[in-house]
Amino acid sequence: MPKRVMLAPPENVMVQADNLVKIYKSSDVEVMALQGLDLTVERGELMGIVGASGSGKSTLLNMLGGLDKPSAGSLFIDGRDMLKFGEKDLIEYKRKTVGFVWQNNARNLIPYLTAQQNVEMPMLLSGYSGRSQRAVELLDMVGLSHRKNSRLDQMSGGEQQRVAIAIALSNNPKLLLADEPTGSVDTATSNLILDVFRELNRVMGVTVIIVTHDTKLSKQIDRVVAIRDGKTSTEMLRRTSPIRSFGELTEEQEEAAQEEVSVLDRAGRLQIPKEYLEELGLKGGDKVRVELEEGKISIYPRR
Ligand SMILES: Nc1ncnc2c1ncn2[C@@H]1O[C@H](COP(=O)(O)OP(=O)(O)OP(=O)(O)O)[C@@H](O)[C@H]1O
Ligand SMILES: [Mg+2]
Repeated sequence: MPKRVMLAPPENVMVQADNLVKIYKSSDVEVMALQGLDLTVERGELMGIVGASGSGKSTLLNMLGGLDKPSAGSLFIDGRDMLKFGEKDLIEYKRKTVGFVWQNNARNLIPYLTAQQNVEMPMLLSGYSGRSQRAVELLDMVGLSHRKNSRLDQMSGGEQQRVAIAIALSNNPKLLLADEPTGSVDTATSNLILDVFRELNRVMGVTVIIVTHDTKLSKQIDRVVAIRDGKTSTEMLRRTSPIRSFGELTEEQEEAAQEEVSVLDRAGRLQIPKEYLEELGLKGGDKVRVELEEGKISIYPRR
């Protein structure tokens, strides 16, 4: 088989994953967490990723964040080939290009320090000068400058999460990754957090990728990619511009505002929604007849 040569994606693309594979090996088992995943994210985009538990969302985010290396396939971020990265490149990438927000802020926040001290901490560790002013600036970006002297354990879950976002922004990242950032807060707070991401995306132009279980939240994002069994399947696209504050639309209007689409991969292959296949009693390996008709392509079961 000829070796595939992957070319760098065009300038307007921030993330391009092709046929990305991640295999976790432990002593006796192998888990294929990503099974040939394709994903393109444009610069300046704010997009969502949804999928069942275990579908590979966090695995993908870890690859994008440079926390772990893909096993095979190709991954370009900000025009650079991540599979060719050595240790030094990874450290540099994490320092300069990417910011990370997790669901569990306890992971990077210290409860008995103030908001400002928490934001300054990573800068202190990296020897950043002028960090006190920068910390206030960052807290301002997430709408929290008035709480800068509050101890973290005296702040609400949503406020704590905004402190975590401020920290993720401290290196002025081009790409901001958030894994379930609204996982432990109520609906009103999760809308507020989404608003913060939107504002950062709009004002700073940072590309944002948000993993979420929260369907109320994902319905407010322009493009949401669904992952199934370690592969991208369908996408949900908003027909209308994003609503600013949730609750203005009825459930039916919400439903109508989103359109589910399938995406052709580079080789022209298509994943057909599972419900459609079930409806026609089709399963993997079955042969179908594909016909070009006036302005459309039809797929017929062979009987
Ligand atoms: N470090 C690891 N070692 C071995 N297997 C792993 C590891 N991390 C994840 N997996 C496995 O890879 C698969 C994908 O996991 P992943 O954490 O990416 O799922 P997820 O979509 O983020 O799920 P959730 O919604 O529950 O967070 C799962 O089967 C999981 O058990
Ligand atoms: Mg996860």
